[in-house]
Amino acid sequence: MSKIATVPQPDVVAQFATTMIQWQKQFGRHQLPWQNTRDPYRVWLSEIMLQQTQVSTVLEYFPRFLLQFPDVKALAEASQDEVLGLWSGLGYYSRARNLHQCAQDVMSRFGGSFPEEPIDLQSLPGIGRSTAAAIAAFCFGKRAAILDGNVKRVLTRVLGYSADLSIAASERALWDLADQLLPTDDLASAMPRYTQALMDLGSSVCLPRKADCLICPVKKLCMAAQQGDPLQFPVKTRKLKRSSESIWLLCLINRQGEVWLERRPPKGVWASLYCFPIFGTAELLGLALPKGLTCHYDASFVHVLTHKDLHLHPVRVAWNGHQQPQTGTQGAWISRLKWQTLGLPAPIRKLLDTI
Ligand code: ADE
Repeated sequence: MSKIATVPQPDVVAQFATTMIQWQKQFGRHQLPWQNTRDPYRVWLSEIMLQQTQVSTVLEYFPRFLLQFPDVKALAEASQDEVLGLWSGLGYYSRARNLHQCAQDVMSRFGGSFPEEPIDLQSLPGIGRSTAAAIAAFCFGKRAAILDGNVKRVLTRVLGYSADLSIAASERALWDLADQLLPTDDLASAMPRYTQALMDLGSSVCLPRKADCLICPVKKLCMAAQQGDPLQFPVKTRKLKRSSESIWLLCLINRQGEVWLERRPPKGVWASLYCFPIFGTAELLGLALPKGLTCHYDASFVHVLTHKDLHLHPVRVAWNGHQQPQTGTQGAWISRLKWQTLGLPAPIRKLLDTI
């Protein structure tokens, strides 16, 4: 096994941070709604929203969320349904559940103020090492390295870091290298600027399938650019194991145009969200219905989750009876006005929009 380089080139250590900071001043983003603030509530909320979601989408959700929950206390006191409702459409709902729990923990463990140290921030639900560093750097000027997907790409290219990031030791070594590249002076202003610079370069210049080296401020320092093949970094050999699953969705609609929705259990796919009753086979779905009802099999479609492809088979049934459906779990008839405010999985919302 080749040894992993744990010391960056001296010229990279000396020049990387200052060059990035200068570039950010001139070419970086300055007007995003979570910038120009040191309020950890806003920075934390934006970082969680941005974890798996594009900036353009977060720009819609972030102000709406703040309007409803202007501070960590308001969020802590909300119901989980309110939080999931506002999150609806952003996906990856464990983020919303952790967000709510985190707000409650900030109230109970830290007296309503976010802690300043990355190690304390990391002890809160939903805050990993990189998010903790982003909050600590942006709000408190702490010397802490971020290392999300974009930054891994930038740093592995600059350093010519060819170790396999799917091996934990290689990733740990990259964290060490990231620490060594951090600014050393005037941290209160340098750390927020440098952190934003990494994010901006990773999302505008040093892209996964295109490295625009001609306009890159650190081209002269970049090993990958010198080697002529930046796209070979980062190296990640182990692919995510994917599975697939088919589910049948019972879309019951009553005479008032209401739909029958159930709350999902607190663990597993779509935890705590509202959903049509789910069955593992078309036969099981049929057994849950009274005899004589007509089933309309709508077009099936695939919904891609992190670890699996979900093949969804919607079955539409008009419900004329007065008694409640017996689908095995607790549910309720929900009107259009109501379902628009509920926390719903994205594909279920899509289906409901066609009703
Ligand atoms: N992605 C993650 N954090 C971000 C930030 N603060 N600004 C822009 N994009 C981001």
